[in-house]
Amino acid sequence: MASIIGAVATSHIPAIGAAMARSLQGDAYWKPFFDGYPPVNAWLERMRPEVAVVIYNDHGLNFFLDKMPTFAVGAAAEYRNADEGWGLEPVAPFPGHPGLSWHLIESLVADEFDVTSCQEMLVDHGFTVPMGLLWPGRRRLPKTLPISVNTVQHPLPTPQRCYKLGCAVGKAIASFPQELRVVILATGGLSHQLDGERAGFINRDFDLMCMEKIIADPLALTRYSIRDLVEQAGSQGVEVITWLMMRGALRGPVRCLHRNYHIPISNTGAGLLLLENAA
Ligand code: DHB
Ligand code: FE
Repeated sequence: MASIIGAVATSHIPAIGAAMARSLQGDAYWKPFFDGYPPVNAWLERMRPEVAVVIYNDHGLNFFLDKMPTFAVGAAAEYRNADEGWGLEPVAPFPGHPGLSWHLIESLVADEFDVTSCQEMLVDHGFTVPMGLLWPGRRRLPKTLPISVNTVQHPLPTPQRCYKLGCAVGKAIASFPQELRVVILATGGLSHQLDGERAGFINRDFDLMCMEKIIADPLALTRYSIRDLVEQAGSQGVEVITWLMMRGALRGPVRCLHRNYHIPISNTGAGLLLLENAA
């Protein structure tokens, strides 16, 4: 049986990709952010996940406003990257795990989550930046399984729906008949707004509250509406719904093994959580 060994949630800002490409990790601006990651790298090194299920949001690379699935699941042998407009140098493709993908898709549809299956899927900075942070130099890079949630074209799925989908992802992985060590990643958030009158808006208190609730009381966050999240976290801060999906996949109580929070990175409250099942 496949098992979920734990989960990591991280922000996915394009500027981080540019900083990694230029080896700026030690610079004064970047150090408090990058210093969050070595404990997570060490944990991944020790735990050796074979597949990373990457719950993220596409920003206009694979899906655009003309056709926007609410939830899309990758089912490809590899996932290629391209620059969706931030000027990041594209990185090498990421290997997929079509067997686990199709099992997940079958299980989700059976559980009444009508996801879009993607046998071709380009992955943007929301996917590649966290992979670069978590597997620097691609040492022991696992296979990957992208799940993209719409955070761009309203109406967006409710936080409650996202949490429930996460629970169904956890259930699906647990019923995969092969031995497989799976880590769940969530990428996005925390608070940020990139456009409009509130451009630059960051809400530290709300971010820290979200990190606490993700650990100890995720149901509290499922009572927020998307409108509440936009108000409290900014129009792009709704990306925190990816964290709720991740938390749903862990199902039971969790232990927080490591966390970091630093503002600002670019326009964003940058958060990091490493969670393990408590049971
Ligand atoms: C920024 C943050 C994001 O989540 C993103 O997708 C793009 C840009 C930023 O803060 O610059
Ligand atoms: Fe984003």
